[in-house]
Amino acid sequence: MSVAIERPPSDLQPAGVRAGYAAAVRHLPSIAFALSSVYSLYMDWAAQQNVEVDCSRLDAMHNGITQFLDGKLTPAPLENPRRILELGAGSGAWAIQAAKQFPDAEVVASDFNPLPLRALPPNMRFERADVTQRMPFEPASFDVVHIRFVLCHIPDGHTLIPRIAELVAPGGWLLIDDCCMPISADGDCTNIRRCIEGYRAYMLANKQQPRLGDDLEGYLRALDGFQSLQVARTNFVLNSVSPDPVHQRLNEDLRESITRFFISPMSSAVHGFGVTPEAERGFVEELDTTDWKLSMSMVLSWARKLPAGTLD
Ligand SMILES: C[S@@+](CC[C@H](N)C(=O)[O-])C[C@H]1O[C@@H](n2cnc3c(N)ncnc32)[C@H](O)[C@@H]1O
Repeated sequence: MSVAIERPPSDLQPAGVRAGYAAAVRHLPSIAFALSSVYSLYMDWAAQQNVEVDCSRLDAMHNGITQFLDGKLTPAPLENPRRILELGAGSGAWAIQAAKQFPDAEVVASDFNPLPLRALPPNMRFERADVTQRMPFEPASFDVVHIRFVLCHIPDGHTLIPRIAELVAPGGWLLIDDCCMPISADGDCTNIRRCIEGYRAYMLANKQQPRLGDDLEGYLRALDGFQSLQVARTNFVLNSVSPDPVHQRLNEDLRESITRFFISPMSSAVHGFGVTPEAERGFVEELDTTDWKLSMSMVLSWARKLPAGTLD
């Protein structure tokens, strides 16, 4: 963190003030260090508050997806992986489940926010990492690398896929789950539509990819050295009833998750795109009083890196 000090015109200052100023400048490195420590403690605290709030939403969504997958972490046929990495781990729910399902594996959960304070299995640890920066992991060192609902939130997130794929060991699995967010809302729901369309416009203006799931297969096909690529897409119509009870449960979890997302306070950058506090209040009012529908998809993908010594 840099500390900007505005230098006063010294000839207008009484000598005592100048001396104090000179002393302050002499102590600038320690002042800057103290300020930056306080600042980073504050940022950690603030991030922790957000993470705690979001944790139950992400846990609920994870549980719905797991049930949808019959208790599995992925449709990929994982066989006793020894090292598992999750990027953008959020609440850590997927990584915790991975650690429990593979108690002999070493599981690393990572995110650029801290993990919420919660009990972790003994074979799991957290490492803070930003996927857009150089990551503290060796290439080809994980038998499974998983990233879910993260790339769509990052400007040009798809360009990170080759770097993420490099972390997969020969014979290991790259698991990328993403989504196609709703484009609009159907029905008599002005505020829900305003929030959905406004947030989408905000994402596009920031080069984020709300429909990354649409193109995931193409991005993965372009990767060198992978085989057995599979992509499974499931479409949901939120606020409608599915005849399949498991599908319906995930429908409800996603509805809840999207609702909690939109009723949390948004940054002023998003307000500029119409997702104002007033629109968010209207969103809540419309939830149970109007007939509305949102179409979205979840896209799961899995691809295996060629085992060592195999020709591409
Ligand atoms: C929608 S949440 C998904 C969390 C989790 N993967 C899940 O499926 O429940 C997105 C997560 O990505 C993380 N994230 C966003 N940008 C990131 C980045 N550049 N590097 C690492 N994590 C990031 C956020 O902190 C958040 O935890």
